[in-house]
Amino acid sequence: NFYAVIMAGGIGSRFWPVSRTAHPKQFIDILGTGKTLIQQTYQRFLKIVPPENIYIVTNNNYTQLVKEQIPELADEQILAEPVMRNTAPCVAYASHKIAMLNPDAAIVVSPADHLILDTDEFVRNINYSLDAASRMSCLITLGIKPSRPDTGYGYVQFTSQKLEGDLHKVKTFTEKPNLELAKTFVQSGEFLWNAGIFVWSAASIISAFEQHLPEMNDVFKEGDNKYNTDAERPFIQHAYYQCTNISIDYGIMEKASNVYVLPTDFGWSDLGTWASVYQLSEKDYLGNAVIPSDRVIMYDSANCMVNVPAEKLVILQGLDDYIVVESNNTLLICQKSQEQKVKQIVADVKSIY
Ligand code: GDD
Ligand code: MG
Repeated sequence: NFYAVIMAGGIGSRFWPVSRTAHPKQFIDILGTGKTLIQQTYQRFLKIVPPENIYIVTNNNYTQLVKEQIPELADEQILAEPVMRNTAPCVAYASHKIAMLNPDAAIVVSPADHLILDTDEFVRNINYSLDAASRMSCLITLGIKPSRPDTGYGYVQFTSQKLEGDLHKVKTFTEKPNLELAKTFVQSGEFLWNAGIFVWSAASIISAFEQHLPEMNDVFKEGDNKYNTDAERPFIQHAYYQCTNISIDYGIMEKASNVYVLPTDFGWSDLGTWASVYQLSEKDYLGNAVIPSDRVIMYDSANCMVNVPAEKLVILQGLDDYIVVESNNTLLICQKSQEQKVKQIVADVKSIY
């Protein structure tokens, strides 16, 4: 009765120019491990659920990429969205479809673009949560101990009240707080980061949609007699346009009262920035992380993150603490400490070219 839904429809603008609208972060081998992030995510879930119970929800534009990177997927395991409406519709669609196949389903919903170092611990946590979710009506999120007041995350305030085991009742869920609030959260010691990995039964999440996003739920409920038939695709291609653009975090998690958090520690990173990729990459004795390394020559350079096409001959001299990335004939050289400017740079570049 266990299912996995991988959300893989985002665009990952911070990794520009390597991550582009046509080729976002989840489809890249960003750490140079030989596997793209979505391939790693898929393989992790193979250890938890049967292969035919893994679904990937992505944009129409990326279905071809998904098929190329995970050729063993059957067509019906790739759920294609005609427009980007963030993660709430993605979850609603997958939940209704799976509920029609198996009303007793328990589902883990996960981003496609995260790094998890300790797979065994991850598998243990997810198995436990899936089992709990199939016995009890609850929405489970996995929590990570925060190490800085990052404003790009959701924050869950946990209480000592427990559902069972280590499943703590969540008092508040705050998606992307401002910096001031994030600082208070981290200092208080009462908050965990929301890893963005959720576990629930199909019934619990559908009932949460009925309560908190009823119009969106109605849209997908109308498809209940069409899922898993030839009528599914045409129905979905039309249904998405009726959905508001909202994430599952704002739409459901902030509002629901039956949210529980499982504190976890499996070496998680959402690889949100080049600096985080740098931190996790293998480095030479001067602190340079170079992908790929055989045609990059460095003189007097240290602490750099270099990610360039394999065929490119690159020579660097005298660079300290820089990001050097090239893709699609676009080269970006930027101080590592200034990388938050990349978002603005991308916006500027897009308005010019
Ligand atoms: N199918 C589909 N459709 N997937 C989408 C869409 C969409 O329209 N938009 C985003 N996704 C996918 C992304 O590809 C990613 O794998 C996942 O959903 C999460 O979306 P992000 O855009 O990366 O969310 P976020 O990083 O801003 O915030 C979420 O993750 C944080 C942890 O990394 C939230 O859940 C936060 O609360 C959380 O802390
Ligand atoms: Mg993210």
